[in-house]
Amino acid sequence: MTDAMTPGPTSEDPVLAATGSVPNGPGEPPALDATHHASALLRVSDVRKVYGEGHTEVVAVADATMAVDQGEFVALLGPSGSGKTTLISIVGGLLSPSGGTVTLGGIDVTGLSKKDLTAFRAEQVGFVFQSANLVPFLTARENLLYVASLVKGTSRAQAQARADDLLEELGLAGRAKNLPEQLSGGERQRVAIGRALMNDPDLVLVDEPTAALDTAMGRQVVELLRREIKGRGKTGIMVTHDLRMVEYTDRVFEILDGHLTHVEEPSALRH
Ligand SMILES: Nc1ncnc2c1ncn2[C@@H]1O[C@H](COP(=O)(O)OP(=O)(O)O)[C@@H](O)[C@H]1O
Ligand SMILES: [Mg+2]
Repeated sequence: MTDAMTPGPTSEDPVLAATGSVPNGPGEPPALDATHHASALLRVSDVRKVYGEGHTEVVAVADATMAVDQGEFVALLGPSGSGKTTLISIVGGLLSPSGGTVTLGGIDVTGLSKKDLTAFRAEQVGFVFQSANLVPFLTARENLLYVASLVKGTSRAQAQARADDLLEELGLAGRAKNLPEQLSGGERQRVAIGRALMNDPDLVLVDEPTAALDTAMGRQVVELLRREIKGRGKTGIMVTHDLRMVEYTDRVFEILDGHLTHVEEPSALRH
């Protein structure tokens, strides 16, 4: 079992060690390889996304500016169609913005080449989607091992040890050999959390993780997410339209018609 209370990556981390990256301790200069761990402060500056053109133009994100610290777990709250998925897809380097910049630990994500962006996503970002999106013909354990194989230099033995630790920690040790269809919705989301953490990313992005779950299961999954993100010193953003999930986060950003605002008083949301 890994020590969930150790903030941030440690040099004993097998996957991290396998990538050949050296995490920055206090006073160390930033890593030379821009796609490797620096510090996880996330800055989103004046991000804009327009889909289509002419009369089919949709301004999905009009202007978004936010900063999230390492160790923070924040909510991105908004109704359906408000631009939440578009915004976190840009933050995670899955989609390029029409304007503005995203930096993580000083790395300009929006300025990375296609090749560096692929490495950045595999090494620095863990995604958890609405429906777990597991590979259907791979077992729970193989779903974790698969993402480790996307990072160059990860040894199979190290990845296996890490996958087993994560599965155990997520209460899935007895489910490791099950295919996704043999798991409950909550278990599938827990596998997705394990997969997101597998490569020890700085940033964990979560899109409506409870949409397919009942309330009790949803709460369990979000509680677990919070514990993992806080305990491991990750930067986490959870997209949700469910006010009840906001209590598990440190701060709330609200998005309406593509306009992002920081909610200063979360209690004002509870009307
Ligand atoms: N690939 C796309 N092409 C055109 N319009 C899109 C695309 N993806 C999303 N949109 C539009 O952008 C807006 C924001 O969508 P989205 O980011 O998915 O919102 P949310 O996740 O908050 O439901 C919506 O009006 C949606 O219809
Ligand atoms: Mg969405």
